[in-house]
Amino acid sequence: MPVMAADHELAQKSTLNQILKRGELRVGLDAGYIPFEMTDKKGDIVGFDVDMAKEMAKAMGVKLTIVNTDYDGIIPALMADKFDIIISGMTVNQERNLQINFADPYIVAGQAILLSKKHEGKITSYKDLNDPKYIVASRIGTTGEQATKRMIPKAQYKSFEKESDGAMEVVNGQADAFVYDLPFCAVFMAQQGGANLVLLDKVFTYEPLGFGVKKGDPDFLNWLDNFLTQIKADGRFDRIYDKWIKG
Ligand code: ARG
Repeated sequence: MPVMAADHELAQKSTLNQILKRGELRVGLDAGYIPFEMTDKKGDIVGFDVDMAKEMAKAMGVKLTIVNTDYDGIIPALMADKFDIIISGMTVNQERNLQINFADPYIVAGQAILLSKKHEGKITSYKDLNDPKYIVASRIGTTGEQATKRMIPKAQYKSFEKESDGAMEVVNGQADAFVYDLPFCAVFMAQQGGANLVLLDKVFTYEPLGFGVKKGDPDFLNWLDNFLTQIKADGRFDRIYDKWIKG
């Protein structure tokens, strides 16, 4: 193939070029994963990831469009070009990485446990939950679900469509524990843990979170990695972190 034609083809495949041409960055996320993406009282989607996406669009000089997408189908939606990038607290795991590419991780999370207060002091780790007499909840299609099935295989597993419904199940006494990413568990605990929950915050999985993009697009990945390096060093990342996660 002549060099010029190859260059042209490369430019066509670059998501970044398409975004610039369109003047719009389309970000796929699933609102509900506090504090990364959630719906506020006015009905707007806000959070850590949304601020990251805003910063990204600004650096590209384009407008931002959020495409709220069910988590269970978010990878197929990316492949079907419903949006340009997944910014949705997505754990980079090897199974997903077979289907899509990830930019360098922007933060690290891990699975924690929201435990029913009635088990306080008696259950101190995920290992103690590994018993058929316990009901453990998590959210469908997430690493919380994968970790529960893999690491707490003897418990009865109950799957939920939304993370907050799974956590509420423990509040309401219908499940013994909810397994999910620590940032979510910590915020949920602070907001509604009160009298009913205990947070076991010693994470038992290692979960780097990264932006997901289609395979075969080194042009976009290169931009994203350099964008991350820059905002991590110049205070923009810290500002977003302090706003949503710290404290
Ligand atoms: N980190 C977990 C995962 O990748 C949960 C992310 C859920 N994200 C969301 N926007 N609801 O499975």
